[in-house]
Amino acid sequence: MQRERWYKDMVFYQIWPRSFKDGDGDGMGDLWGVLEKLDYIKGLGCDGIWFSPIYPSPGADCGYDIADYMDIAPEFGGMEAFRKVLDGCHERGMKLIMDLVVNHTSDEHAWFQKSRQRIEPYSDYYIWRPAKPDGTLPNNWDSNFEGKAWTWDEVRGEYYLHLFAVKQPDLNMDNPLVREEVKKILRFWLDMGVDGFREDVITYISKKEGLSDDHLFPIYKGMPNYNHGPHIHEYLEEFKRDVFDHYDCFTLAEAPLVWPRQALKYIDEENGQLDMMIQFQCQCADCLFTDYLPTKFSLRRMKKAFSDWQYKLAGRAWNMLYIENHDHPRIISRYGSEKFWKESGKTLAVMYLLQQGTPFLYQGQEIGMLNWRPEDAEMYEDVQTRYNYAHSNLNKSPEKRLHKMWRSSRDSARTPVQWDDTENAGFTTGTPWFYVNDNYKTINVAAQEKDPDSILNFYRRTIKLRKALPVVRHGQYREHFRLDMRRYVYSREMEGQKLLVICSFSDRPVKMKIPAGFDLSRAELVLQTHKDAGDTLQPYESRVYLWNE
Ligand code: GLC
Repeated sequence: MQRERWYKDMVFYQIWPRSFKDGDGDGMGDLWGVLEKLDYIKGLGCDGIWFSPIYPSPGADCGYDIADYMDIAPEFGGMEAFRKVLDGCHERGMKLIMDLVVNHTSDEHAWFQKSRQRIEPYSDYYIWRPAKPDGTLPNNWDSNFEGKAWTWDEVRGEYYLHLFAVKQPDLNMDNPLVREEVKKILRFWLDMGVDGFREDVITYISKKEGLSDDHLFPIYKGMPNYNHGPHIHEYLEEFKRDVFDHYDCFTLAEAPLVWPRQALKYIDEENGQLDMMIQFQCQCADCLFTDYLPTKFSLRRMKKAFSDWQYKLAGRAWNMLYIENHDHPRIISRYGSEKFWKESGKTLAVMYLLQQGTPFLYQGQEIGMLNWRPEDAEMYEDVQTRYNYAHSNLNKSPEKRLHKMWRSSRDSARTPVQWDDTENAGFTTGTPWFYVNDNYKTINVAAQEKDPDSILNFYRRTIKLRKALPVVRHGQYREHFRLDMRRYVYSREMEGQKLLVICSFSDRPVKMKIPAGFDLSRAELVLQTHKDAGDTLQPYESRVYLWNE
């Protein structure tokens, strides 16, 4: 049966629940707060929401350590609030997708508690190994967050594998019973009316037999043994065949290290097992490998990454477009300029929103929120940040070390959404669970609502344009002036309609450059970041031209 791929016409909004909006005054964002803001989200032109985890969790990794997959955490409002949000979305013609985190659970999940006591059928639900005969760890793998990937469990008398935090033991997906549990979870939410899933680090779920030492990777040792592992496609196919094929839903896979050709094995529309993929390449224009090693932002690297995905997926698969989420610092602070805050915020929006794919916005991105700057490293909450701070750059000055964290920490983008200029930025009437960025008096939703020239209103205009123009969905992508270090210029073309997107990433004025074959005298200027459109592009200026033939 040919599926209707409705997600191709949509724009999604990501909610990282603890910092979105507090509805009950306890200082923690919740679903009551979301309910209040559904019209705001819809008003942005977004027609779908992705919720980062809202299940019961001890919070060792802000909800990515799940203790119960079939419930909603009481601090977020429980099932009662969730059903209201789900209905509220559907009444507005919006979709809702959940985060599926099944590479690992919390160590407080009942399965783990039983597994460590060898209670059947749970004893083989996780990846347990004895020490090596010489008493050392089962292998040399690193976890992605906290040192080595193995922790000793006194109760069981064995080590368990955790590719993330110590409190996030990896599930043994090779066990058919575990896969049945996953299917149960999927059906539970889909039967309730949820419209799909974002699948957390899903490419990690199948580990190579033998779990041997890794002599290939200098950091993240072990990754070649579990990323895109031996049975990954088989397991994903099983989930699709047994569950997804029976529902009108879509799937979005998170893949930390993936290239377009490899991605096609997952998301090719002919025979893939999933619909879209969150890749990290476009997020690595200012870092080597990942955010741990921040380097200078490179426009060329960014353009190459975006273009690669546009070219290589064309006609075969659909892109997921994003520039921010809860795992990366704020984009203006990274790829743009805090000095040219408004201009670069708008240019970043145009740059990605008019490409092929389904765009996602991360809460606060639409008002140009910036990286939070703590005075002290103790103020960081995130498990990954705390570990990195304690173990890296130890020979540098405290200021330098803090600055590095500011540039790379996930907490830089996890502060509460700035709704207005009242106390706590209007996020809560209580004491916020986390720090509010000091700049909330100037950067907030209420102020930008009133200003027609704000980043917020610019996002609205750009999304509206995206939805109005068939060429944005169907047009062929082409990058121009590939080697240019200051401009990103691309076009989208289909029969009868042509679009040219010109973005300056320079903090100085630069000359306009028009690719051959684009006659501006016959074009309509349909979007611009600056008022006058002369021969010079002002710092971070963008323009979009349209030809209807
Ligand atoms: C994904 C999530 C991230 C989480 C990790 C472990 O990368 O996006 O927030 O910490 O997986 O679940």
